[in-house]
Amino acid sequence: MFHLLRRFVQSLSGRFPDESEASVLLEIMSEQEFTLWRTMPASDQRHSLKVVGRFLHRLPEATTAEIIGVALHDVGKVASNLGTLGRVAATVFGRRGSRFAIYHDHESIGITMLRDAGCSRDVQAILDGSARQSALAAFRWADNC
Ligand SMILES: [Fe+2]
Repeated sequence: MFHLLRRFVQSLSGRFPDESEASVLLEIMSEQEFTLWRTMPASDQRHSLKVVGRFLHRLPEATTAEIIGVALHDVGKVASNLGTLGRVAATVFGRRGSRFAIYHDHESIGITMLRDAGCSRDVQAILDGSARQSALAAFRWADNC
């Protein structure tokens, strides 16, 4: 629960990561993947970079595709077009209304977005749960810190 509160407070900043912070992704992503990543709001981009950092700390031998999948794991939330308070409301009230339902379906929506952007099956595997178990465990740990 504490990590959700911390994430909420951090989401209040509208600062986008600068190019140097995003450079690790820029170096490994295709143009379409990086463009997709840049569609995320500032708070999701910062969260993405933090999760990637924690993921690599936990699984230093991660593949490039796994890192990209982790970086894009929340991209489906873009489709709900909800701000921080809307996301809190969706979390509290569940699937009421189409935008809240979209927010709750963000993982499957994200997989479709990755597919449409030409991401490999190995990138999609982090979102659809078909990646190797060590990568999924490291990702879940990194996302829930
Ligand atoms: Fe996340």
